[in-house]
Amino acid sequence: MCPSRKVELFGEPIAQNGLMATVDQSQTPYADALTRYAERDTLRLNVPGHNARVDGAQRLSDYFGHRILERDVTPFLPGIDSGEGNPLAQARDLAAAAWDAEKTWFLTNGASQANRIVALALAQLGGPEQPIIAQRSAHSSFIDGIILAGLSPEWIAPTVDFHHGINHGVSPESFEAALTANPNARGALIISPSYFGAVADVESLAKIAHRHGIPLVVDGAWGTHFGFHPDVPESPLRLGADVLVSSTHKLGGSLTQSAMVHVAKGPFAEQLIEIIDRTFVLTQSTSNSSLLLASLDIARSTLATGAGLIDTAIRSGDALRERVRVHPRLSVLSDDFGQFSDIVSHDPLHVSIDVSGLGCSGHEVRTRLMTEHHIVTEIATDNCVVAIIGPGHPVDVDRMMSALDSLARETPSAASRDRLDLPAVGEARMTPRDAFFALSEVVDAVAAVGRVSADTLAAYPPGIPNIMPGEVFTSEIIAFLHHTVMQPGGYVRGAITEKSDRFRVVV
Ligand SMILES: Cc1ncc(COP(=O)(O)O)c(C=O)c1O
Repeated sequence: MCPSRKVELFGEPIAQNGLMATVDQSQTPYADALTRYAERDTLRLNVPGHNARVDGAQRLSDYFGHRILERDVTPFLPGIDSGEGNPLAQARDLAAAAWDAEKTWFLTNGASQANRIVALALAQLGGPEQPIIAQRSAHSSFIDGIILAGLSPEWIAPTVDFHHGINHGVSPESFEAALTANPNARGALIISPSYFGAVADVESLAKIAHRHGIPLVVDGAWGTHFGFHPDVPESPLRLGADVLVSSTHKLGGSLTQSAMVHVAKGPFAEQLIEIIDRTFVLTQSTSNSSLLLASLDIARSTLATGAGLIDTAIRSGDALRERVRVHPRLSVLSDDFGQFSDIVSHDPLHVSIDVSGLGCSGHEVRTRLMTEHHIVTEIATDNCVVAIIGPGHPVDVDRMMSALDSLARETPSAASRDRLDLPAVGEARMTPRDAFFALSEVVDAVAAVGRVSADTLAAYPPGIPNIMPGEVFTSEIIAFLHHTVMQPGGYVRGAITEKSDRFRVVV
């Protein structure tokens, strides 16, 4: 018989002073394990096929640097991500402790994967006749999850800022009404913060969900940093949410496409952990990227120990907002948040600027900032742009303001522009899954009016579906999609033509 030896970990077990909650968050066990592995003289006869060999992978190495290739390793390596107490498991435990979660999963296909995981998990919480309650302005990845899972959604309309043409969130009153109208609901999903930094009353929403006996999922894709500084909103998990979707690469500082999903220590923990373990396997690649995973380990440690970096970002955001406020032709969108019943605070790292006074659309302003001033903002809508300030160095506020000033000088008056309001949602005639898999045909825009969509179409960003499978096309929706693609940088996720002038409808 082959003598068995204990697998050695690439590193020490993480130092814990008793409780995990008080563990030293400066540790990065998985990232360190990859470094140790990379530094050891190993003959690599496995994937990835570049084998980290300079001779074979010279161009990759010149492009990315050799350290990236050395740390780009296949999964299931004993002592790194397999075996008891392995460094990857330690890294996930540290993340769970940082977010006060019962369990955390590291994802390599974004919060989009988290939303699909959540939808597939909700599908296991009840029978086919039990709807899920969700904010209608959920991200399109959650709609994808609804299609995959075959869920029947009951939508809650978010409040709408008609002046700026954007959706906000769900108020406790409308949430309570939706749960009362659907006493057999199996779970609920809301979004906080919004793409514009509006923060929902998660504490009240969680209490309502629990009173109705269901778990609350918060898609907190934009709020990874919440809870890590006294001047940013509290983390939804500490306010009672049962599941938190976190797009760590957005404001948490990890590499693009890396994300997390957390389950809270609440009443649904045991049940949810078991089903999310299953749906995680269903959605994660069997070759998840070690680089993305390591970036999650490092980002968690930086967030948990780097309040100073968040502080710098807050101060930069404040400075930019102050300058925008005193500008005669600009204003700060979040200054009006108090008018909306669903918004309790805002994220200081989102700086949302109403640029309609410049006489150009937000899309035009965003494109001109990028092409003429080499300043890239995150999102544009018809009349605003949103700047995102990640934890780190101070932002050059003067540069941003002088770019906006120069645009203002070129458009001396805010000439009236054609504005297009957010279209009302079309009537739902089929479930998203039935419509997605139904026999369909492609017709041009005029013929699509009054027909049931087979696709999810979402003006991007922000990626909120303007129509989803099962809903009826109206001429307003089609005009809005067309208007979106005609804007510089405008794009409709799910569109079958670049001009968004032909649509897939159910036969
Ligand atoms: C609210 C929300 N949820 C989920 C996602 C998907 O995140 P990711 O890009 O990490 O897949 C996004 C992306 O913008 C989002 O805005």
